[in-house]
Amino acid sequence: MAQVARLADEDDFDGWRVAARTLASRRILPSDVLWQVGATPQDLFAATLTEVAAAAPQFAVPRSFVELARSAICHSDPERFSLLYSMLLRIRANSRALEDRADPLVQRLERMTKEVRRDIHKMHAFVRFRELEDEGGTRYVAWFEPEHHIVRASAGFFVRRFAGMRWSILTPELSIHWDGETLLEGPAATRADAPDRDPVEETWKTYYASIFNPARLKVKAMTKEMPKKYWKNMPETALVGELISGAQAREARMVETSQAKSATAQAETAKPSIGDNVRAAWEAVRQEAMGCTRCDLYKCGTQTVFGEGPVDAKIMFVGEQPGDQEDLAGKPFIGPAGQLLDRALGEAGVDRSQTYVTNAVKHFKFEQRGKRRIHSKPNGSEIDACRWWIEQERVLIRPPITVALGATAARSLFGKPVTISAMRGRAHTVSDGGEGWVTVHPSFLLRVRDNREEEYARFVDDLRVIGERAKALA
Ligand code: URA
Repeated sequence: MAQVARLADEDDFDGWRVAARTLASRRILPSDVLWQVGATPQDLFAATLTEVAAAAPQFAVPRSFVELARSAICHSDPERFSLLYSMLLRIRANSRALEDRADPLVQRLERMTKEVRRDIHKMHAFVRFRELEDEGGTRYVAWFEPEHHIVRASAGFFVRRFAGMRWSILTPELSIHWDGETLLEGPAATRADAPDRDPVEETWKTYYASIFNPARLKVKAMTKEMPKKYWKNMPETALVGELISGAQAREARMVETSQAKSATAQAETAKPSIGDNVRAAWEAVRQEAMGCTRCDLYKCGTQTVFGEGPVDAKIMFVGEQPGDQEDLAGKPFIGPAGQLLDRALGEAGVDRSQTYVTNAVKHFKFEQRGKRRIHSKPNGSEIDACRWWIEQERVLIRPPITVALGATAARSLFGKPVTISAMRGRAHTVSDGGEGWVTVHPSFLLRVRDNREEEYARFVDDLRVIGERAKALA
């Protein structure tokens, strides 16, 4: 006879766990269980399950399964409860069952967790609040339509990020409300419940139009990262359709202009007006990057280490990836390599505080050896995944000069592997028309045994030439 297992909510992991443990202890087959969501007055079976669970023999499952189940339960696939229960039974028979990556069930569950993670990232990145006044004062209200049951799983991010504001996020499944102290849940909402426009919106639109560069337009990449279904909630994308349709003409005009002007002058012409809204947009991008899961490196580092410096910097320095100290502090180039860079910049007459310093890869990749975390080089796909962020930093800052420190940064800047010795000492034009320079990474100077003094002097010379070039361009 089929058993009904009733869960309180679509993402009720605790309820699923209790029910699954009970069913497993009774040796009930997955095909004999009917999973249902939502309490009803005849909710007799749920009570029975809880009772039996308390008496049922406990069995341990690997932590990785708990994490996977917690995430997969948020998926919209109606079979998720049953699939997870099947997996639980397999793990009960073989505690290493989850390690079998060739198993179609493992693959399916992993795919589901990936989709859930991605949806959470989208929610973090694409929720846009509109300002309104209610009886308690200003409240920021957003409408969002996630693909999976991720609202509760995403809530902590918004609480941390907007701790001091009063806000509500309305979705078709439930609404969540923060009053500065408590997170409350409310019923499902409709788009009509959310305000449509607010005064900040016009600023965003003007800003977005001013930074829009048709030569950089990659519709496929843009729609992949920012699916169309989210556009309608994002003021800055209200102009995207119009901008795309005018892009070819604009691009042709840009090409004509670039033939008449030097590449550097062109980069200056395309530069957005620098002001508070650039800083605000930069901050929004930085916050989005904090939740990045574009590659697996987010799993090992402590945090995303984003770039730092004035948004109107004339020089952008790009390193490889944060090191141990940067990972802990959340700031680029503060460890030994950063200190060497500071010293060399000082000798070259370049003021670091006037430059923007960032990395090609924003998470620390390392191998744990005892207590030490040993730097490990990012691979091509990690560099490529992280180009999304550095491209956004570059779109916002538009540095006339970008300096790649070492091969990883150069690969990221030029979009392909390059040889430092062949590129060093002169300017190269990068995709936005600015100048790209290549030199060694300061950690190379910490490692090198032969001719260390000479190598360091050469590095300082490179920086001096770059500093002078920046002054000339200004
Ligand atoms: N090395 C880098 O490339 N970047 C840092 O931020 C620190 C060390």
